[in-house]
Amino acid sequence: MGSVTNELSPQLHAFIARQHVFFMATAPLHGGHVNLSPKGRDAFRVLDPKRVAYLDLTGSGNETSAHLLENGRITIMFCAFEGPPLILRLYGAGRAVLKGTAAWEELAPRFPDLPGARQIIVVDLTRVQTSCGYGVPTMEFRAERDKIIRWAEAKGDVGLEAYRQEKNLRSIDGLPTALGQDAKQ
Ligand SMILES: Cc1cc2nc3c(=O)[nH]c(=O)nc-3n(C[C@H](O)[C@H](O)[C@H](O)COP(=O)(O)O)c2cc1C
Repeated sequence: MGSVTNELSPQLHAFIARQHVFFMATAPLHGGHVNLSPKGRDAFRVLDPKRVAYLDLTGSGNETSAHLLENGRITIMFCAFEGPPLILRLYGAGRAVLKGTAAWEELAPRFPDLPGARQIIVVDLTRVQTSCGYGVPTMEFRAERDKIIRWAEAKGDVGLEAYRQEKNLRSIDGLPTALGQDAKQ
């Protein structure tokens, strides 16, 4: 029923491309708060069978970036809400790629140009695990919310940068984020 490998098959790549939502979990090494975030929109890409990336938009917290900077550990989960049941967990080591870097220039064209883009989270996969997903209900997708886009447009580039400087430099446990580290340089 379930399987464990260390890379994404074309079938799993196709499954990912059909999903509207995914979840990412990270944690600090020594206590503190475990973070679990839902993410949506057309923002996830399989770069190759062992590497994936996600375009992250500006929000009030920046937990994933801080935890990745400290220890790199991340788990991403997709589950089928339509069609045959399946849960896919991607375990790996991640990092935040910031604007103004060569890696950003290389990766950004693969994503939609969304207002509020904050960083690209890149993950090298170490374990690709599927399980049955029988406990997940079926639900029909209706629409993306456009609230995050309208929120970012209303803030504008200058407002967003100020917002990130105010809110996104440290995790809730006080760990620096990649943006926080960048700000110090
Ligand atoms: C406009 C806006 C949009 C947000 N969207 C999300 C979201 O899609 N997912 C989420 O987990 N938190 C969202 N949040 C809440 C925080 O940004 C949350 O603390 C942050 O996502 C946690 O850090 P992470 O994104 O690195 O996981 C949003 C907040 C704002 C202000």
